[in-house]
Amino acid sequence: MSETRRGRRLSRLPARALRGALAAVAAAALAVPLAAPAQADTPLRELADARDFEIGAALGAGYLSGDARFADLAATQFNAATAENAMKWDTVQPSRGQFNWRDADAFMDFAAANDQTVRGHTLVWHSQLPSWVSNGGFGAAELRGIMESHIDAVAGRYAGRVAYWDVVNEPFNDDGSWRNSVFYNTLGEGFVADALRMAAEADPNAELYLNDYNIEGINAKSNAYYELARDLLAQGVPLDGIGMQAHLINGQVPADLQRNIQRFADLGLDVAITELDVRIPMPADQNELQQQARDYRAVLDACLAVDRCIGVTVWGIVDRYSWVPDVFPGQGAPLIYFDDYTPKPSYYAIQEALGGPGGPGPGPDPEPGACEVDYTVQNQWSTGFTGQVAFTHNGASALSGWELSWSWPSGQRVSSGWSGTWAQSGSTVTVSNAAWNGAVPAGGTVTVGFNATHSGGNTAPTAFTLNGQACTAV
Ligand code: XIL
Repeated sequence: MSETRRGRRLSRLPARALRGALAAVAAAALAVPLAAPAQADTPLRELADARDFEIGAALGAGYLSGDARFADLAATQFNAATAENAMKWDTVQPSRGQFNWRDADAFMDFAAANDQTVRGHTLVWHSQLPSWVSNGGFGAAELRGIMESHIDAVAGRYAGRVAYWDVVNEPFNDDGSWRNSVFYNTLGEGFVADALRMAAEADPNAELYLNDYNIEGINAKSNAYYELARDLLAQGVPLDGIGMQAHLINGQVPADLQRNIQRFADLGLDVAITELDVRIPMPADQNELQQQARDYRAVLDACLAVDRCIGVTVWGIVDRYSWVPDVFPGQGAPLIYFDDYTPKPSYYAIQEALGGPGGPGPGPDPEPGACEVDYTVQNQWSTGFTGQVAFTHNGASALSGWELSWSWPSGQRVSSGWSGTWAQSGSTVTVSNAAWNGAVPAGGTVTVGFNATHSGGNTAPTAFTLNGQACTAV
């Protein structure tokens, strides 16, 4: 079993062939007209198809049916799709033995009509799990039976039409220990292997994944996956891939993302980025949107660089419908279209990563990395002030020299500076390293100081760059 599966995985053709074949039988009436989007010349899906890559989106059932602009973007920009909620346990089997297929069927029809590869999401998860399962007090045999009939019903219903299943979602805590779910608590860690075997029975053609967040970098949690995946493969359990959700914080793409993807690929697994979004403290300014674009670019680049990384799915399309503000108060704007459905810099970053023209996107320096700047006025009098600027270099590798820059909004002029070489041209200040502080390790902080003049207003700058890359002001 495991050998055949592995052989099949080496080619991406089956999923694509499946998608093509399904399109042929799809109800043409459901197809959304392929109108060219206003500001984005080459649709992402066209660029992705040309590279044999999948660019997907999570599609909410209510938006598909109730928002024509959303449905149009879903159809025209993406060659892959995940149901945002429609296939989850609480939607599909809200009470024991009672199934509700309405939204899931509608989603499947939409994907088929628009020739999209489907990622099934998700079969076994502690969340969005009805209380009849989580609080049922079932013994191991009965719970295993409940899990089996659920997997059978859902994966069985869509067998042959789902290319990938997120079979188990989020079984680990961030420290790499097992999460206390009703499944783990009742069945022990064997529930994962059981679920994978049950899914393989129900749909022998689907590629079977484990899916989680905070496993994009190399850390305790992704190490736990690495060990688990190795064990499962050694036991011949049908595991085909790892889904990295990638719910990220702006400026914090793990520097070792590509290395992490590669180590799972080296185990013989596929990897998919399954739920990408990059959240920003609201309101998001231009600087943050540019940083977000670089983050999207970095994620796409990391995946594209590893042959077995099959695609990237964005968790939504337009900012206005994102789950982020509900779950991370004060944060938002994590997606690739503005609330008015125009493409964001992050959209153009994806377009460019896929070999397209890009647009007014992330600019010429897509190198991943991030910095934070803390700008403080320490002392101020009528015509002058003393300030301190500390930057933290969050990039992947050490710097051997640096140049920090900002622009003063209200006519300030530096008169002397220390811990660096200072220059000002117009309103733009540039500080480069002194002979002794050019070397900055990843995560290192450098502090510089200055005296300056001002003529009344002394508004602090809000945008900083370090070696040409935008920093976050803290
Ligand atoms: C989220 C949906 O986007 C929301 O609409 C819903 O209210 C909660 O779940 N990890 C997952 C996804 O695997 O299923 C979650 O989706 C986001 C986090």
